[in-house]
Amino acid sequence: MHESAPSTRPLTARRPAAALTGSLSVPGDKSISHRALMFAGLAIGRTQITGLLEGEDVLRTAAAMRALGAEVTQTGGIWQVWGRGVGGLTEPADVLDMGNSGTAARLLCGLLASHPMFSVMTGDASLRRRPMKRVTDPLSAIGARFAAREGGRLPLAIEGATDPLPVAYRLPVASAQVKSSLLLAGLNAAGHSVIEEPEPTRDHSENMLRHFGATVDVEVDGAGRIITLHGQPELKAADIIVPGDPSSAAFPLASALLVPGSSVTVTNVGLNKLRAGLFATLAEMGADITIANQRTEGGEPVGDLTATYGPLRAVDVPAHRVPSMIDEYPILAVIAASAVGTTRMRGLNELRVKESDRLAATAAMLAQAGVRVEIEDDDLLVHGTGAPPAGGGLVVTHMDHRIAMSGLVLGLSAAAPMAVDDTAFIDTSFPGFVDLMRHLGADFR
Ligand code: S3P
Repeated sequence: MHESAPSTRPLTARRPAAALTGSLSVPGDKSISHRALMFAGLAIGRTQITGLLEGEDVLRTAAAMRALGAEVTQTGGIWQVWGRGVGGLTEPADVLDMGNSGTAARLLCGLLASHPMFSVMTGDASLRRRPMKRVTDPLSAIGARFAAREGGRLPLAIEGATDPLPVAYRLPVASAQVKSSLLLAGLNAAGHSVIEEPEPTRDHSENMLRHFGATVDVEVDGAGRIITLHGQPELKAADIIVPGDPSSAAFPLASALLVPGSSVTVTNVGLNKLRAGLFATLAEMGADITIANQRTEGGEPVGDLTATYGPLRAVDVPAHRVPSMIDEYPILAVIAASAVGTTRMRGLNELRVKESDRLAATAAMLAQAGVRVEIEDDDLLVHGTGAPPAGGGLVVTHMDHRIAMSGLVLGLSAAAPMAVDDTAFIDTSFPGFVDLMRHLGADFR
């Protein structure tokens, strides 16, 4: 989409004259939305999905599932999927373009690899730089064949296995995308697929598979988990309610913590504990964040979060927390820039292979605002002074939605405005972000 109609949307954020106040809800969870469309496409019957994220990444997944034979419709915010049954997808007639979405591309590889058909996948310039061997290597072991660009990068041609073998794999990196790709492949293999993860990663796939009637056993194994999927289940359509995305909620909540006098509530935020690392970290920093109205909706815990401005202190964020807040480091770094002391975020090597090299992009963004920042091996150190950053620089987003939103929040908190080179990619995960933030009182021009 972006490449056929290239249009950048620069924006400048400045400290608002008044505090940010108000209540809002954020769009649906991106991870759950991708999975809802894919699993519903493998179920028998009609699944209704409420609260699906209608961001560009998820729309790519919807288009891909249609191209694979599922019927996917949308009316007035309600999505319906008529699935094909496990193993029932059909060969796509054209190249599948996954846009900016690593999750869509990697999860879909698991589906394509476990059906006896030929497909080709591509993506935008950001996605074409990202590593795919982390999924194609284990998927080759079940009988699929891949041809890719140097380094296993997209575009990728896939010859799916005729009789996929069950998966037996220990993940070398803690990645929910790789785990989920393998679970999707294992669905169409006879017997049990066993996946070991060194550290627990988001378990939306496991939860949703059970919701559709599959048997998934999870055993705790030291710090990690062993997940066993019973192959070739009959998945039955089951309606899904998608909670608000905690990774999106992070931005308005962070803004409230940083703009003097502010208090902002985000309602209906997903609080799955394997996604809630940022909130644990902010509590350690002394942030005033309260949770009200905790409940379970569609099998996931949700609640209403209120963040109120106040002093913050630096923290040391342990590496074992990375999987539970992998997408939140850029915004945590922005918050840390206003805290008192040096925040060290450990073990961030996976940030180098996100929509951009997020470790480098985050450090560059803060340096542009006059913040003292260092990368030491895989750790990011942010030296906060307790005062607002100087600001006044330019944030280069590198086609990365989370860098764009973090840059805008940085501008709200800094003494001088911050310019962000391109906010167009925000639509991949948080359509409406700029307007919602303006409603709270953000000064974006
Ligand atoms: C996701 C998992 C994470 C995360 C991404 C979404 C998912 O990636 O960064 O935005 O939906 O499974 P990794 O699991 O590869 O770290």
